[in-house]
Amino acid sequence: MRTMASVWFSVLVLVSVQQVFGNVCSKDNSELNCNECIRCGGNWCNEIGSTHCVTTLEDGWCPNDQEMLLDMEPMSKAGKKVSPVYAERSLYVLKPDRMDIEYVATDELPIKMGISNTTQTSKFHIRTYDTKCRDNKCRTTIEATPLQDFCSATGSTAEFVFVTISVGHLANVTVKYFVPCACECSLKVDTNSATCNGHGDLSCGACKCHPEWTGEFCNTPICPKGRGDVQCTNPDFSYAECSGNGYCGPCETCICYTDRVGSQYFDQEEYCADICMISSQCEDCLLNSTAGDCESCVHNMIVQNFNESVRETKDHLNRNVWVACNETVNDCHIDYYARKAEDKTIYLMIERTCNDINSAPIVATPKVSIILGVLGILAAVAAIGGVMLWKHMNAIPPVPLNDPQYQNIDAEDCRGENPLYKPPTSSFKNPTYGKW
Ligand SMILES: *[C@@H]1O[C@H](CO)[C@@H](O)[C@H](O)[C@H]1NC(C)=O
Ligand SMILES: *[C@@H]1O[C@H](CO)[C@@H](O)[C@H](O)[C@H]1NC(C)=O
Ligand SMILES: *[C@@H]1O[C@H](CO)[C@@H](O)[C@H](O)[C@H]1NC(C)=O
Ligand SMILES: *[C@@H]1O[C@H](CO)[C@@H](O)[C@H](O)[C@H]1NC(C)=O
Ligand SMILES: *[C@@H]1O[C@H](CO)[C@@H](O)[C@H](O)[C@H]1NC(C)=O
Repeated sequence: MRTMASVWFSVLVLVSVQQVFGNVCSKDNSELNCNECIRCGGNWCNEIGSTHCVTTLEDGWCPNDQEMLLDMEPMSKAGKKVSPVYAERSLYVLKPDRMDIEYVATDELPIKMGISNTTQTSKFHIRTYDTKCRDNKCRTTIEATPLQDFCSATGSTAEFVFVTISVGHLANVTVKYFVPCACECSLKVDTNSATCNGHGDLSCGACKCHPEWTGEFCNTPICPKGRGDVQCTNPDFSYAECSGNGYCGPCETCICYTDRVGSQYFDQEEYCADICMISSQCEDCLLNSTAGDCESCVHNMIVQNFNESVRETKDHLNRNVWVACNETVNDCHIDYYARKAEDKTIYLMIERTCNDINSAPIVATPKVSIILGVLGILAAVAAIGGVMLWKHMNAIPPVPLNDPQYQNIDAEDCRGENPLYKPPTSSFKNPTYGKW
């Protein structure tokens, strides 16, 4: 049973090793680097922008800078009855090499061949190609070819195979085959090369892109996930799409500003939503200003008692740890401070709320006309761009506000949910949004 198990084990290992090799060479040639190209039996061109790896040489391919593989001066040592008895030859993957062995005999002798040792694998093909005998002399042509998986992934520019060929009982011929399994140019790497737009390393005239980039010159970002229904491509609207706290970056993602009040809490994953937007999603918590856990909230939120000296705390970058927020819920205006801990828990301190007996209720005067005006602009923007513009009371004065079209949006009473920031909860307060 044990033997059986080990047999299976080695079969499995062989199969998986072969798959690893096979996969590299079954890739498209344009995806191979110089070493892989050589190991797979291709030819390499170092010219920038050329077709680097080709299997068959064509006219006009790489006129100036083909990678020349290391080779060895062929040498051979004659014997008395057999010549050569020792030889050295260069050999390239998948390129058959023929060599003649001459011996003294009236008739063809049995030839036996085998690899005596190798610095790589034994995936090496050797055979007698042809034998001719005349005038007491025979000439046998030997053909040797390293196969596609001869070179291991770590093969160097100089690998060897020793082959022993026995010619009847006359003599044993030793041939040292020299096989390059890598390119010399691959030893030179220009990291973060300008040719690769700073997103990759240049070697052998080709870019190896960093993980997030692709393309011949690493100029195309790889986008791991789309933004689903929301597009972030229109630079005119990208500000609004990124909650007013960022701009549209590569891969349809928001790049959040880092130099704004509370920017340490901007949520890259959630369209740069700031801490006031996120905490305002939990109205119950803001209305019930008694200290404790806000259990009905999706985000972990804890209310603590307001303390003037605590709210002035600075972090090591001298930023305010606590961000001032305000929110009007059912005509009740609430001023509060918020911070986010390392573990993403949001802490709130309610400074003033209309529910407080001690503080005078601040009831926002409804300015219907302004709200309607804003909604009208929103509708127009949505109609034009198919994108909803949104402005939170807490947002930092946005860049596009220089555009007169946006001016009214900054009106003090403008508020609404950011339809692009989708809280894990809940419905939106403004039913109009649903219709867009
Ligand atoms: C490989 O074989 C050749 C010829 O048989 C011999 O000269 C050489 O020392 C061997 N090398 C190793 C590492 O065994
Ligand atoms: C060739 O090598 C084999 C195995 O090493 C050995 O048995 C044989 O005697 C050798 N033949 C000659 C002619 O040296
Ligand atoms: C405040 O909390 C109490 C109990 O936790 C709850 O019954 C009440 O509805 C909350 N008030 C508001 C305005 O949500
Ligand atoms: C406010 O916090 C400071 C420092 O944490 C503390 O010393 C002080 O007693 C607190 N004030 C009140 C009124 O709780
Ligand atoms: C609400 O917060 C914003 C941003 O901090 C601020 O500009 C605005 O004056 C505040 N509104 C009120 C009524 O306090």
